[in-house]
Amino acid sequence: MHRIFLGLFFIAQVLSQTRNLEWPEDAILTFGGLAMKYVQRVEEFDVLTPDGYFLKLFHIPGDRRRPVLLIHGALDSSDSFIMRGNTSLAVALARDNYDVWAMNYKGNRYARTHVTLDADADKEFWNFSLHEIGTIDIPTTIDFVLNRTGQRKLSVIGFSEGTTASYVMGATRPEYNDKIKLHISLAPVCFLQNTKPLMSYIIQLAPILNIALEAITGNEIGGYNSTSKALINQFCMKEDRYKVCLDALFSVTGANAKEIEMEFFPVVLGHFPAGSSRKNLYHLAQIGESKKFQNYDYGLAQNMRKYKRPTPPEYDLSQVTMNIALIVANNDKISTIKDTELLRQRLPNVVDYVMMPNSAFNHIDYVWGRSTHKTMFQHIFRLLNKYNY
Ligand SMILES: *[C@@H]1O[C@H](CO)[C@@H](O)[C@H](O)[C@H]1NC(C)=O
Ligand SMILES: *[C@@H]1O[C@H](CO)[C@@H](O)[C@H](O)[C@H]1NC(C)=O
Ligand SMILES: *[C@@H]1O[C@H](CO)[C@@H](O)[C@H](O)[C@H]1NC(C)=O
Ligand SMILES: *[C@@H]1O[C@H](CO)[C@@H](O)[C@H](O)[C@H]1NC(C)=O
Repeated sequence: MHRIFLGLFFIAQVLSQTRNLEWPEDAILTFGGLAMKYVQRVEEFDVLTPDGYFLKLFHIPGDRRRPVLLIHGALDSSDSFIMRGNTSLAVALARDNYDVWAMNYKGNRYARTHVTLDADADKEFWNFSLHEIGTIDIPTTIDFVLNRTGQRKLSVIGFSEGTTASYVMGATRPEYNDKIKLHISLAPVCFLQNTKPLMSYIIQLAPILNIALEAITGNEIGGYNSTSKALINQFCMKEDRYKVCLDALFSVTGANAKEIEMEFFPVVLGHFPAGSSRKNLYHLAQIGESKKFQNYDYGLAQNMRKYKRPTPPEYDLSQVTMNIALIVANNDKISTIKDTELLRQRLPNVVDYVMMPNSAFNHIDYVWGRSTHKTMFQHIFRLLNKYNY
């Protein structure tokens, strides 16, 4: 399989006549480097989870009484909250003296080490999904932040799968609901039965894609140092191709070309994708396919063994009692208005709801959009301030 891709890739390279794009500094710096560049302070921690993973946690120190935890989306990392530099959310929060904590959950470039397992050699390293992220990674990180700051509660801003896993936590470890002042859910993802093409097709084809991906890339998907990522970088870092690559991304997220300019595109590629497990993405697809917010489906025999029933149990959203503010957008093909409405009806404690007024606002604009600091941050600051008790 790899050979076919390599062959196509070389043909494309030979046919291409135009200039390579350059990697700007902000594409290469890590979260830590970007924080030093834009706010001149940062700390890094490796948080050890009960299941043996080390999760890199970045901290931009501010007022300890106002900790805010940032939780990234699927295939993504902490970097999405800072790669817009001066107009990024992490920098804006830090400048307003919030105590900013940006976590990474297991499997991405910052969370690829384990006490005993080797990510490159042991299949078992990749045996996790949003279930383990929600039941283990997020609560462990929350306890770490509360311990370091000496606080009883913190605020959380989750994006995309960062919200999904937060709801898993609220449902399975209900004591954590009381540790959260407010959860601001950007592009909330829970139900996935009303996604739009291409996402809806990907969900339909997921059982086949899952098998194909196992053969092509194994158990890690979109790994930061992987061959597939290197090929994407090589292909897309050309003046005449960046639009093709951006359009491919837009076909999944919804298009909003004005918001991702050519100069910024290499910064996106420098940080995304950051890697995850195939099982994690497949779990999301199963939720879409089954129309149920449910545990991972292992198939009949293993479900009987693990859950003592033929189908996986649903996560109980009525247990997710934390204060939640939903921020949604009309042109988001992954977190659609219809699915967020289903979520809103099921959550017991939605305290605020914002629909982004720009009808082109899409799934990635929440974190990467050029003017998001002008259109969305005001809601975040208003909400953090209102629920800061
Ligand atoms: C970011 O903003 C700071 C403070 O306004 C300014 O000093 C700095 O030059 C800006 N950096 C960049 C790269 O724009
Ligand atoms: C990727 O490769 C670089 C250079 O060899 C290395 O420093 C870095 O730790 C690697 N990152 C991951 C996530 O494997
Ligand atoms: C993966 O983990 C689950 C429990 O989290 C376990 O039931 C299952 O056997 C594991 N699968 C493999 C292939 O090790
Ligand atoms: C943080 O945890 C350590 C070790 O468990 C404990 O000794 C310390 O009291 C905790 N600090 C706070 C502020 O809870």
